[in-house]
Amino acid sequence: MCGIIGIVGCSPVADRLADSLKRLEYRGYDSAGIATLEASGAIARLRAEGKLVNLQALIDKAPPLGTVGIGHTRWATHGVPSERNAHPHATAQVAVVHNGIIENFRELREEMEGLGRHFESDTDTEVVAHLVSQAVEAGASPVDAVASVLPRLKGAFALALLFRGRDDILIGARRGSPLAIGYGKGEMFLGSDAMALAPFTSSVAYLEDGDWVVITHEGATIRDETGEVVARAVTRSNASALIVDKGNHRHFMAKEIHEQPEVVGHTLARYVDFTSGRIRLPADSDFSFAKVRRLVISACGTAYYAGLTAKYWFERYAGLPVDIDIASEFRYREAPLDPDDVSLFVSQSGETADTLAALRYCKAAGQKVAAVVNVMESTIARESDVVFPTLAGPEIGVASTKAFTCQLTALLCLAIAAGRQRGVLDDDGERSLVQALIEIPRIMAEALKVEHQIEGLAKSLSKVRHALYLGRGTNFPLALEGALKLKEISYIHAEGYAAGELKHGPIALIDETMPVIVIAPHDQIFEKTVSNMQEVAARGGRIILMTDTRGAGASGLEPAETIILPDMPAAIAPLAYAIPVQLLAYHTAVFIGTDVDQPRNLAKSVTVE
Ligand code: F6R
Repeated sequence: MCGIIGIVGCSPVADRLADSLKRLEYRGYDSAGIATLEASGAIARLRAEGKLVNLQALIDKAPPLGTVGIGHTRWATHGVPSERNAHPHATAQVAVVHNGIIENFRELREEMEGLGRHFESDTDTEVVAHLVSQAVEAGASPVDAVASVLPRLKGAFALALLFRGRDDILIGARRGSPLAIGYGKGEMFLGSDAMALAPFTSSVAYLEDGDWVVITHEGATIRDETGEVVARAVTRSNASALIVDKGNHRHFMAKEIHEQPEVVGHTLARYVDFTSGRIRLPADSDFSFAKVRRLVISACGTAYYAGLTAKYWFERYAGLPVDIDIASEFRYREAPLDPDDVSLFVSQSGETADTLAALRYCKAAGQKVAAVVNVMESTIARESDVVFPTLAGPEIGVASTKAFTCQLTALLCLAIAAGRQRGVLDDDGERSLVQALIEIPRIMAEALKVEHQIEGLAKSLSKVRHALYLGRGTNFPLALEGALKLKEISYIHAEGYAAGELKHGPIALIDETMPVIVIAPHDQIFEKTVSNMQEVAARGGRIILMTDTRGAGASGLEPAETIILPDMPAAIAPLAYAIPVQLLAYHTAVFIGTDVDQPRNLAKSVTVE
């Protein structure tokens, strides 16, 4: 979602602000802007709706010379995407960029308007500029002004503020949304994540919830919410070392789909001892599922589908009952929690607001909290008792692909470990599952070979308005994921169903215009899915079958298209079948010509409820 960068520099900062915003593009945005100081000390803003090239054109036209500045990519919450609503918001005294939501902005705005202050945007953010201005105009220093305003703001947010005539400071604040400090040589930075800071420094400190910070050329003074000066550890971020380009691919999403054999392999290497053929959980976790009565999993979107797949695995391989819920539902449904249960959160970004809130809810109930996360510096990683990493590397495409399969990899390893710890799996059981896992990078590489066939299929799919995805067992969450992928990047309406549910309603949708994508490797329940396919065929539905050679031979049907993957053990099928599912959505979107990496209305890291 919104991205923040701030620089207290020694040379003009406009281009560096824009460079950093470019790195934040992947989070999703609809407008962008920067504010710097003119030679007179006045605040100067450049803002543009749409892509960053529009902002860059403004910068190139009249390059600002200020050596201190803030920048922002906005993902609209309050007020339509427009230049008027783009950040920074400013008065003559202060400019502010903001990530998150100020919940009580209406009453604060009324108060400020009552004092004769004039607002120019529909955003919740502008109220912060006015509140701080009001205090500065009444004689407060920037630091005192911010200190007096922060306790008045309700909601979850991160802020960066720039002050008229002060080329020596910026102030940042964090409540709910992440904010990091970057330490340079004679220069200091603020950023919504380490990626934003990567071009400038790898020395990074993360504000804790409630912290706020004053950065100057010399360093940072961090205070907690009580105003006490506090120290936060400065760590080395590896974000700058991460390669963030498209390689030979047209889109980040294509690159990330193709990277999967490699990054799944990296993730496996953290969980599997290849020599003994046993699971070896990441070294720093002495965590055990042995005595756990029930596992509670929460996540959002694609990460939720990874968790739903894991439910099948934990129950099957470890005899461990699993409750799973979408985080935004879980946190409000007042689920009774037993302190002896363990909760597990799944998140690529580690910043998803609902997942984080669900985590805090479980923690408050006294549960041990574990997380499967991709961004190790994230809030979810830092607030969990035990962290299980995925090694997907930075995922830039808004639609999750490689993070999903790495989540599946880590979760399957955890389920196998749980099976051993609980005495459900014996040595042989563990070894045969691990052997299957070891083969997965190769099988995924094989699965990528169907790309050409899928490209042809995508051309016809790009012409439809609706599609259905069906699967059973662990392929049911994948059907949900397939439908999500298709709708989010191609804007074609799609639904995923458990194949057995078809006749309980959705079968009414079937006619010759309805493509039905069936994910059905030849496993124990294949025959059941064949019955459902027959129901579709009898009503003229157009079946696209994703299966293996045995499945293709045994279906007894003539689907419109059959995509054949290598034979593989059922346990790893969701990882391999994710590939054709992702490729189908990707190529369909490419045919339609949508913005594949940054689909409309979507944000990579959803830091508001
Ligand atoms: C879909 C997608 C989203 C995310 C969801 C959770 O392609 O990417 O549904 O999976 O927003 O995000 P994380 O995993 O960062 O918590």
